[in-house]
Amino acid sequence: MSQNTLSIEEIEKLSYYDLMGYLEVPFFQIGGLSSTEKLGELCSIDNNTNVLIVGCGTGFNACHIARKFGCKLMGVDIAEEAIKKAKERAENENLADTAEFRVGDAYDLPFENDKFDVVITQFVSQFLDMEKALKEFTRVLKMGGRVGINEMFKDNEMQPKIAEQILEAEQIISEITELPFIIHTPYEWRDCLENAGLKDIEIHENKKPMNLREAPQMFREIGGFGHFLKLITKMTKITLASKVIRKRFKKLGESKKILVGSPLIKSASSKHVGYILGVGSKR
Ligand SMILES: C[S@@+](CC[C@H](N)C(=O)[O-])C[C@H]1O[C@@H](n2cnc3c(N)ncnc32)[C@H](O)[C@@H]1O
Repeated sequence: MSQNTLSIEEIEKLSYYDLMGYLEVPFFQIGGLSSTEKLGELCSIDNNTNVLIVGCGTGFNACHIARKFGCKLMGVDIAEEAIKKAKERAENENLADTAEFRVGDAYDLPFENDKFDVVITQFVSQFLDMEKALKEFTRVLKMGGRVGINEMFKDNEMQPKIAEQILEAEQIISEITELPFIIHTPYEWRDCLENAGLKDIEIHENKKPMNLREAPQMFREIGGFGHFLKLITKMTKITLASKVIRKRFKKLGESKKILVGSPLIKSASSKHVGYILGVGSKR
């Protein structure tokens, strides 16, 4: 997995998030960069903060946080291909001194106790056993430090038919990523943070997806329209060349339709889904 170009057979064998890393997919959170910035503010990140980002993917959001807040930052992810791209991104953006990246598992973080001021996940905790993961997050967190999460939520109440559709989407994502995937209600997210012994918990619900006015900034930070086009071309070539990858993306498209809807029309089920920003302190 260390070569720059893999054969189609090698690409088909990649785990879903290694594939996303290989394709350099920049971000996943439905609230866009403004949700990332808001989470940083809720965690009181500034240029003296030592931040750990768990499940950093290709480092797009992590580099944005490092630049926006001027903080020192470490990103970990289990996907080696994603970490490779995150390191390249930090170098290309002259952030290598402040933003470091390494392979690491949320359940067994390669750091000593009480090291970080803030631990963040964005579209990652919904893949994790939160009881186990939060024990590990709080272990590496300094006393007084904060955990911040930016994750999907589903409404507490909905018609059984809609609940079934959302369950179907969860199962598709779980099957494709080979990871457990559960969208919690806001109450359940609060419980997760409370059960980990965190205090001063805040849960902010939001159903507005990324504002399209952010698109130009996104393009700029991805590396410009030319780079975006290069990524789309790479993805299209691989999708056309492999039936296995086409099948994966088609299935994923079905789950996206349920959870997010299409760019123009929100499906009935997607009206019951949004993202929460959750914060709690270690005391
Ligand atoms: C939906 S992506 C989000 C990536 C990034 N946070 C973002 O918003 O662009 C989920 C990420 O979580 C990572 N992940 C899943 N389980 C993990 C674990 N146990 N430890 C570390 N990373 C994990 C995956 O490899 C993937 O990169």
